[in-house]
Amino acid sequence: MYTANTLNQFITEQQSAYPGATGDFSRLLHHIGIAAKKVNRKVNKAGLVDILGQAGGSNVQGENQQKLDIYADDTFVNELCVCGECCAAVSEEKQETIIFNDPIHNNAKYIVCMDPLDGSSNIDVNVSIGTIFSIYRRLSPIGTPVTEADFLQKGSDQVAAGYIIYGSSTVLVYTVGQGVNGFTLDPSIGEFCLSHPAIKTPKNGIIYSINEGNYIKFPDGVKKYIKYCQENDPATRRPFVSRYIGSLVADVHRNLLKGGLFLYPETEFYSQGKLRLMYECNPIAFLLEQAGGIATDGKQRILDIVPEYIHQRSPFYTGSPDMVRKLLEFLN
Ligand code: AHG
Ligand code: MN
Ligand code: MN
Repeated sequence: MYTANTLNQFITEQQSAYPGATGDFSRLLHHIGIAAKKVNRKVNKAGLVDILGQAGGSNVQGENQQKLDIYADDTFVNELCVCGECCAAVSEEKQETIIFNDPIHNNAKYIVCMDPLDGSSNIDVNVSIGTIFSIYRRLSPIGTPVTEADFLQKGSDQVAAGYIIYGSSTVLVYTVGQGVNGFTLDPSIGEFCLSHPAIKTPKNGIIYSINEGNYIKFPDGVKKYIKYCQENDPATRRPFVSRYIGSLVADVHRNLLKGGLFLYPETEFYSQGKLRLMYECNPIAFLLEQAGGIATDGKQRILDIVPEYIHQRSPFYTGSPDMVRKLLEFLN
């Protein structure tokens, strides 16, 4: 028998550590949790309700949108709007920024960047998928319309970040910059309950996660690192284990808990890498750093990159600190 320490109780306790806190941020997180439960409900019924397959359109990246991409986007945008604590948002599924430009939302402090449904290629085949979110405080004065500068902040300015994995169970993992905690959805009470307190990623690991189908297009340093992973050396437990799901959230969640390295380099096709800085790399980088890991584009810390546009991409390497350091020896 466990005592349910629910996400909402946890948020309230965390809030009490900030004497001046007004509860706005707690409300925002609470509503992100509600949107996650709504998406989870659909994911659980996929195959029974009309949610599998393509929607017919494509997003700003030119990728085919799945019905669940659109459902998740609509659900999160709607929940951010009704909660009233978010003045504007960026979504993978929307070319333009989403600005809730009315007197209530102009009084809100927070900007949210999100990948509403991560791992779209896995939806129809019952493989784990996720949602990623990143929260910033706006820079422009409260009460005024948001500006471009509010969106283009460095990852190190995030006030919170997290993901939800819709997997064998549904887990919400987040940080406010004071460590990382994970909450598993208990379907019997419909609440996220603390299941993974104070997550620390192992200092080293033996899992490397990369789409090796792109091997011949990888930078030389990445090719050499992969060969290093495959060499035989019992002292370093090599050959390492290759694991790649194709949902960033699922690959990162596994490596976060077990120790490992996730790699998505630049390739001939994706000259800047495939993953999007503002709603994939930055939130995952913040979580990994908070859990004792490292996140880099191969040259600099992900969280130090100043974004130039909202759908910007970046090479992405993140995971256990000793593994990232080893990779950097090969890259440099
Ligand atoms: P999304 O479904 O949000 O577009 O993200 C897909 C991303 C990410 O989840 C995953 O790590 C990567 O794309 C997989 O790409 P490849 O199929 O090129 O390996
Ligand atoms: Mn994604
Ligand atoms: Mn997506």
